[in-house]
Amino acid sequence: MTNKDSYNKIIDSWITARNNAIVNKPIIDFADYINSEGTILDIGCGTGLPIAKYLSERNFSITGIDQSAKMIEMAKSAGIKNAVFSTCDFFDFESDEKFNGIIAWDSLFHFPKERQKEIYSKVYHLLAHGGYFLFTHGKEEDEHIDSMFGEQFYYSCLSKDFVLGLMKEFGFEIVYSIENFVEEKDQRDWVVLARKK
Ligand SMILES: C[S@@+](CC[C@H](N)C(=O)[O-])C[C@H]1O[C@@H](n2cnc3c(N)ncnc32)[C@H](O)[C@@H]1O
Repeated sequence: MTNKDSYNKIIDSWITARNNAIVNKPIIDFADYINSEGTILDIGCGTGLPIAKYLSERNFSITGIDQSAKMIEMAKSAGIKNAVFSTCDFFDFESDEKFNGIIAWDSLFHFPKERQKEIYSKVYHLLAHGGYFLFTHGKEEDEHIDSMFGEQFYYSCLSKDFVLGLMKEFGFEIVYSIENFVEEKDQRDWVVLARKK
């Protein structure tokens, strides 16, 4: 069973849990940092709610990719303006376009551990100069299986220090790095907003 199959199976429970969630403050910051009317790539966009919808309302053009066909079906039917959603694995995604912002909110932790290192070079190349990258992440190196809504999901993560080293190597500057982010009922181990120099 892959994450893709699991998300396709739990889609109804996911929609109930996620679609009306708040837009977390770092996402608002990310939008504030990018010039209006810019382009944003949303990696692992899910149903497009609440994030792509919010970014569209801020006048950005959104490209949303997700490996779950059910998530993309929901995103396409959500009536989100200036947004194109495609079923696509991040590692297969190619574009001649350089984005002003790239967001990966709660998606990088599903990528295979042996491919985690590739994220930063790929995002760097997809970003325009001065573009912003917002992502959530774990703090410690990890690989495990967990269950959500009765289905199994794979998770992995490199250590925070290793990721910061990779980002420095590729030429990102860290705008902020927040450990143990908490907002209302939401908690994330590590939230990073970075800029391509
Ligand atoms: C926890 S959900 C978060 C969805 C959305 N970002 C949100 O905040 O509501 C993780 C999403 O990442 C997607 N995903 C996982 N691995 C992916 C990959 N390799 N390429 C594209 N999407 C992926 C999943 O299908 C799922 O929709």
